[in-house]
Amino acid sequence: MSLKWSACWVALGQLLCSCALALKGGMLFPKESPSRELKALDGLWHFRADLSNNRLQGFEQQWYRQPLRESGPVLDMPVPSSFNDITQEAALRDFIGWVWYEREAILPRRWTQDTDMRVVLRINSAHYYAVVWVNGIHVVEHEGGHLPFEADISKLVQSGPLTTCRITIAINNTLTPHTLPPGTIVYKTDTSMYPKGYFVQDTSFDFFNYAGLHRSVVLYTTPTTYIDDITVITNVEQDIGEESRREALC
Ligand SMILES: *[C@@H]1O[C@H](CO)[C@@H](O)[C@H](O)[C@H]1NC(C)=O
Repeated sequence: MSLKWSACWVALGQLLCSCALALKGGMLFPKESPSRELKALDGLWHFRADLSNNRLQGFEQQWYRQPLRESGPVLDMPVPSSFNDITQEAALRDFIGWVWYEREAILPRRWTQDTDMRVVLRINSAHYYAVVWVNGIHVVEHEGGHLPFEADISKLVQSGPLTTCRITIAINNTLTPHTLPPGTIVYKTDTSMYPKGYFVQDTSFDFFNYAGLHRSVVLYTTPTTYIDDITVITNVEQDIGEESRREALC
């Protein structure tokens, strides 16, 4: 292939690549600036593990609709952390299934009144599957523990006379063939030894399934017109000329 053609393919590749990026949108790390405000939600959250047999009581009773403490007993759980080692309960240490986190955040008045502002909820890491509600309204779902994810909640917090928002995050730490590391659930059917429906997580290698909100949860703002992503394309300057070559050698 001639040089001209390969240059052409590279240009086309770059074009397609930047189009794909433009469609997908970036997720710049939130940093405070004159046009962006940041509110860290680290600290103690309300927490409850769904200990029901099928682990689905939280969804059946819609725990996200009211403050979590109204659904039953809650613990204070530090975020970020793994929930496993916080208490002395073996049942929580080895828990597999849905756990529920909740916290209320006070919203600065301009966040709820200034419609030129985007308010974004960002969860930096939740192992492994997460469902998120704000004031009982489903805003985002995410699979995979190691990467951050976000939800634009501007419309929600700017739609009424709100001063706080209640963030509920249900997290499922079940390892599946699609998680990192992969794992499977093994049901123990021998009812003389195990209670009905008893299961364990099988990884068949040395791994402890630490789970929970493993990184900070933040609220941040941007103007409605904002930088979404930055792409830096570097190049090698080949013809540096005799003089600079000599300089580079010195
Ligand atoms: C949630 O946990 C239960 C119990 O381990 C499991 O059966 C189910 O597949 C999990 N769901 C997701 C979405 O991870």
